[in-house]
Amino acid sequence: MIKRLGISLEEGLLARFDALIEARGYANRSEAIRDLIRAALVEEEWKHLEGPEQVLVVTLVYDHESYHLAQKLTDIQHARFGMVVATLHIHLDEHNCLETLVLRGDGKEIMEMAQSLVAARGVKFGRVVPATTGRELP
Ligand code: NI
Repeated sequence: MIKRLGISLEEGLLARFDALIEARGYANRSEAIRDLIRAALVEEEWKHLEGPEQVLVVTLVYDHESYHLAQKLTDIQHARFGMVVATLHIHLDEHNCLETLVLRGDGKEIMEMAQSLVAARGVKFGRVVPATTGRELP
């Protein structure tokens, strides 16, 4: 059964959204919104995946001149160094750093660590992308 719903949002935001879905080739807003909802649900489901063998990729953009933030991000990583499989650090410009980390370990623990990195005050952009060995997938 299909349900209809109304959504309120700012004009400028809607214009940007319309431009985005056109660029991505969606037939209409409904299809684009359905995809966004599905993606959010899949992501949420991954967050609750438990088990010793999970993998996450964390992407962070932050200003390295914010000394406390850079220190905090490093502290979090050293506190759980065993979970950090790889890191990539790129100096984007005079101020901004891009850092990508691959975390591996217990699903709940690495997700907690990933979220504490993304949630650190001053992180301008943060994403947690769950990855998988694919063993449980058909
Ligand atoms: Ni840097």
